[in-house]
Amino acid sequence: MKIMSGNSNLPLARAIAAYLEIPLTDASVRRFADEEIFIEIHENVRGEDVFILQSTSYPANDNLMELLIGIDALKRASARRITAVIPYFGYARQDRKPGPRTPISAKLVADIITRAGADRVLSVDLHAGQIQGFFDIPTDNLYAAPTMAADIQARYGGQDLMVVSPDVGGVVRARALAKRLDNAPLAIVDKRRDRPGESEVMNIIGEVSGRHCILIDDIVDSGGTLCNAAQALLDNGAKSVAAYITHGVLSGGAVARVDKSALKELVITDSILPTDAAKDSERIRILPIAPLIGEAVRRIADESSVSSLFD
Ligand code: R5P
Repeated sequence: MKIMSGNSNLPLARAIAAYLEIPLTDASVRRFADEEIFIEIHENVRGEDVFILQSTSYPANDNLMELLIGIDALKRASARRITAVIPYFGYARQDRKPGPRTPISAKLVADIITRAGADRVLSVDLHAGQIQGFFDIPTDNLYAAPTMAADIQARYGGQDLMVVSPDVGGVVRARALAKRLDNAPLAIVDKRRDRPGESEVMNIIGEVSGRHCILIDDIVDSGGTLCNAAQALLDNGAKSVAAYITHGVLSGGAVARVDKSALKELVITDSILPTDAAKDSERIRILPIAPLIGEAVRRIADESSVSSLFD
């Protein structure tokens, strides 16, 4: 088994390699003067089971292209099996046509990754579970929920908890977390978005008064959804609000927005390389997911069960 990494999140790649007690495959990524990407693998991978790690996070297009070129290099170097490990799968929010004459970019990206030569995909908390079906190759979708549940029990165990989904689309994810928290009660924020990129909290389904709320979501991008939801929960009598979000996209002024928000804390994973602003924020905490991904990689290589990780 070999682990190769793109440049999107080298610390995570190193942590996964350390978990597996193997070195990262020696490869280099260079740029031509016009920014074209060139990848060279400096060791033999012929006949190997290779895992290539790359989140297609900001800059999404560069990181995606680097992944595709890395897969192509591995294929032409006769790797036996190539698994694209994409902790954060970008373009996932474009998973259906929200209106006429719009693309389904998540499907397009899945096709390109497959066409490049990936034999399998491993991702974490895909925006929608059905994105697995966009790939015509085996796709494992890992869940950060067990890692989050353990952290919530350690930090907030024994309090009057309520798990909250910040929108109707996230209810399945929220229910799964609630189940892991001794069947904590569930609430939903009914969010209306007037224009793309803007969010507006409308009302809350469920009685949050006197509760310590745990907001759960897959992505925090601008932070608008989260900060508005936190304020709405407090306005409805919640005692406190903390948020657990798998992928800290945190674009633009998101960190400043979180710092100024009513949130007690925002907990993200390191599926995306945290920016310095995110690392420096006293309101943001980062949970490592290398053990989760590392263990899944080990099981895929051993041909053993991945789903039993979540039993
Ligand atoms: C949307 O369906 C996602 O699950 C997130 O709620 C959304 O991407 C968060 O975006 P923002 O932080 O920009 O409000």
